[in-house]
Parts: sequence; structure tokens; C-alpha cells
Amino acid sequence: MNRIFSGIQPTGNLHLGNYLGAIRNWVALQKDFECIFCIVDLHAITQPQDPKLLRAHTREVTAAYIACGIDAETVTIFNQSTVAVHSELAWILGCLTPLGWLNRMTQFKEKAGKQRDNAGLGLYAYPVLMAADILAYKATHVPVGEDQKQHLELARDIAGAFNRRYGIEYFPLPEPQIFGAATRVMSLRDGSKKMSKSDTSDMSRINLTDGPDQIAQKIKRAKTDPHPLPDDVKGLEGRPEAENLLGIYAALTSKSLEEAVREFAGAQFSTFKGALAGLSVEVLGRIGDEMKRLMADPAHVDSILRRGAERAGALAGTYLREVQDIVGFLRP
Ligand code: TYM
Repeated sequence: MNRIFSGIQPTGNLHLGNYLGAIRNWVALQKDFECIFCIVDLHAITQPQDPKLLRAHTREVTAAYIACGIDAETVTIFNQSTVAVHSELAWILGCLTPLGWLNRMTQFKEKAGKQRDNAGLGLYAYPVLMAADILAYKATHVPVGEDQKQHLELARDIAGAFNRRYGIEYFPLPEPQIFGAATRVMSLRDGSKKMSKSDTSDMSRINLTDGPDQIAQKIKRAKTDPHPLPDDVKGLEGRPEAENLLGIYAALTSKSLEEAVREFAGAQFSTFKGALAGLSVEVLGRIGDEMKRLMADPAHVDSILRRGAERAGALAGTYLREVQDIVGFLRP
């Protein structure tokens, strides 16, 4: 049986990268897989969060899932902290994760920065909790953006470590699904930096709740280079901004990067940016409007999360009891 698990942190500023790298692909996959999509609030508190905003952002991410086209009737949508199994399984998996594996994680190194000793244990153990998220449901596939690849490799290693330690093929090794023309959307201000929720410049990203004027303005002011667009993909080498904007265009139109390059071969940036702005406003405007409509009814959003938590909790609970038996915990 094929089952998908994926999630997004409710840390605010949900952006085009989250849409093109993750949610958009989930919408396409939900027809063919049993899907569980989580709002990972336990992961969010690995960095300080304002409690009021954390609640608001949890509803906002839920609204985004639905506004982008996730079907809440067939898909399980819930926030991570409502299913205690995630934390319990993370402990068990943490006991068989060598520190050496965690020390390799580039995201920890980036986020902890030079003040490593001041970074929290939660930030360090973040990838173990992520493995627990996936394995709690014995998920076989995990659709994410490119930046999560290393964490998924670790989740596979941890699943393998559990199976080996207890001599049983219990956990499937989850497969990453990283696809589309925009698996790594870059900042609009700097083509060498990832588009990110935490970038201090709001001009660096297109938020899913931005209005049409903001979207158009951000694309118009996006960094470029002085040359016309190239005739083929090879001509994008050394031109990260051009590559990023064409990748976004390709992903939004469900074309390949090659096709997008062909369409605008030799064009000036101004012409291309006009087309990209129109397209972005059309796609994201619809999503933003629907998000706002959903967020105006928090009781409805909460009812979706409640139902999701029940379904998720029942499934994960069954597996956790099996894991406890395997590990040797007495259940008197
Ligand atoms: P998060 O909240 O940082 O991002 C959510 C999803 O968006 C993708 N993404 C991007 N894709 C393309 N371009 C970008 N600039 C970009 N920025 C973000 C991410 O790859 C991700 O798919 N650790 C995860 C959340 C998580 C998770 C999990 C994911 C927790 N448990 C279990 C999968 C399975 C994270 O921080 O995502």
C-alpha cells in the first residue's frame, strides 16, 4: 500500500516556494495515494514562536492546503501536536540515531550558526522528529522540496537502523518525491539564496496571501541580469535569477524548463516579467482569496483539524503499540 506523509511548519509567511515545491505536488498526488498532510507545530517551536501567532499560523497553513486544492474529505489534515505518537516515537527513534548522523545535517548548521552551544536540543533533534512523523504512519512516499532531501535520507537511515536493531522488516524506507520545474525556488532578491519564510526582506518572496499589486510589484522589482533571455537551457548557466524566474513560470504553467526557455528565447526581461506577473496574479490571487475566506471561519478550519487528528491518531496509535511490543515495553 502506498501512503504519503508530508508537512509544513506554521511559522508564517507561507510562500511561492512552499506552493511550487510542495503543496502543488500534493494536490496532484492525492488522487493516487492515501495522503496525510500535517501542520508541524512541534517543529515550529524549535525556534521561538509567539503562542497567539502560532495558533493563527496553524489555521493559516490549514487554509492554504485547502485553498490550493487538497480535498479535506479524502485527505487527513491535522496539526502534529494533537497526535502524541509523534513525540513518543521520536524518543524511541532518537535512541537509535547516532550523533554522527545528526552532526551532518546542513540545516542545523545553518540555523544554529556560530552559536552552536546556544542552539536548543529540539533544533538538533529536529530530523529525528521528522523521521517519526513519517514512520508513525509507515508512509512509503514523502513529497517535499529539494531542501528536505538530506532529512529524508536520514529518515530512511533511521528506519533501517530500527529494522536492523530489532531484526524485523517493520518500517518501509520512505521514498522522497521531489519533482516539477521548481523544486528549489530562490529569493527574488538574490538568486543564490533559497526563498524562505524567515528572510527579513518581504520583497524576497511572494507570500500566498499577497494581493495582486504586491505580487506584480515583487516580480517587477525581482533581481535580473542585463542580458536578454537565452535560447536554450545551457544559456542559463551562471544566470541564477533568470533560471529561477523561468523555473517559476514553467512550474506555474506545468511546463518543463526547456519549454519555458523556448517560449521566451531572446526576449527582454521586461516582456517576460509582464507575462510572469499576469500568470502569478491569476494563480496565486485565487489561492489567496480562498485562504482569506477560509480564515474568516476559524471554527470550520478547526473542525477539519479535529477530524484529521482523530483519523491520524487512530492509525498512528495502532502502529505505536506494535512498535512498543517490538521494543519490549510491557503493556500491562
Ligand atoms: P518547511 O515548512 O520549511 O517547508 C515546507 C515545504 O516547502 C518546501 N520548500 C520549498 N520548496 C521549493 N523552494 C523553496 N524555496 C522552498 N522552501 C520550502 C519544503 O521542502 C517543504 O516540502 N522539515 C519540514 C517539515 C516537515 C516534514 C515532515 C516534511 C516536518 N516533518 C515530514 C515532510 C515529512 C520543513 O521544515 O518544511
